[in-house]
Amino acid sequence: MFYLNNFHDLEDVYKNAENLFNRISQDNEVLRVFKYHSIRVMQFSILLAKSVNCNDADMKVASLLHDIGKMGLSKDILLKPSKLNALKFQIIQAHSTIGNNILRKTLHSPRAAVFVRDHHERWDGNGYPRGLKGEEISVQGRIISICDAFDTMTIDRRNYNKSLLTYRGAFAELKRCSWPQFDGDLVERFEKLVEKINFPPIEEWAENKEMIEIIFSDN
Ligand SMILES: [Fe+2]
Ligand SMILES: [Fe+2]
Repeated sequence: MFYLNNFHDLEDVYKNAENLFNRISQDNEVLRVFKYHSIRVMQFSILLAKSVNCNDADMKVASLLHDIGKMGLSKDILLKPSKLNALKFQIIQAHSTIGNNILRKTLHSPRAAVFVRDHHERWDGNGYPRGLKGEEISVQGRIISICDAFDTMTIDRRNYNKSLLTYRGAFAELKRCSWPQFDGDLVERFEKLVEKINFPPIEEWAENKEMIEIIFSDN
């Protein structure tokens, strides 16, 4: 059971979310795997959100907790997608709906819950859970989807058994998938923002919270 403070201030909404995240990413073996991925996705999302004036506490909460719905999944299913059958794939897909429920019912953040729900929707309407199309998908959900894919391709491919892409390779892939999958305008914007950052070698920052914060602090 999680005990949350009954705060209403926006920053406190984020503090509550962070407390929840810290506890779960310590205790839950699945979310422990995704801890730093989640922190990086939040930082990438804030960067992109600032550039389109939609950075706020709900954006931070949703990007940090975008995969929180995976906490009930077994590691076996989650980390072996190459062997997924249709049923297992459906189980994994449920994480956006479960995450939506957790944010609404536990954190009382209905707006951030929508952003979490939307992070696997696709521009062409072939995403999940709702099959929303284009601007029907919250801009925050579109932002998380791009940052999630970018982080997965460049830093965290362990669950896909694929080798990492360079930043250039990842942007080529994001552009190739722009409009069918991603909001292409946001992808272009994101590329320009990421190009300006001087990233140290991955092993020096990707799993170091303090370093992650330093890298993104000026941007
Ligand atoms: Fe996800
Ligand atoms: Fe993710």
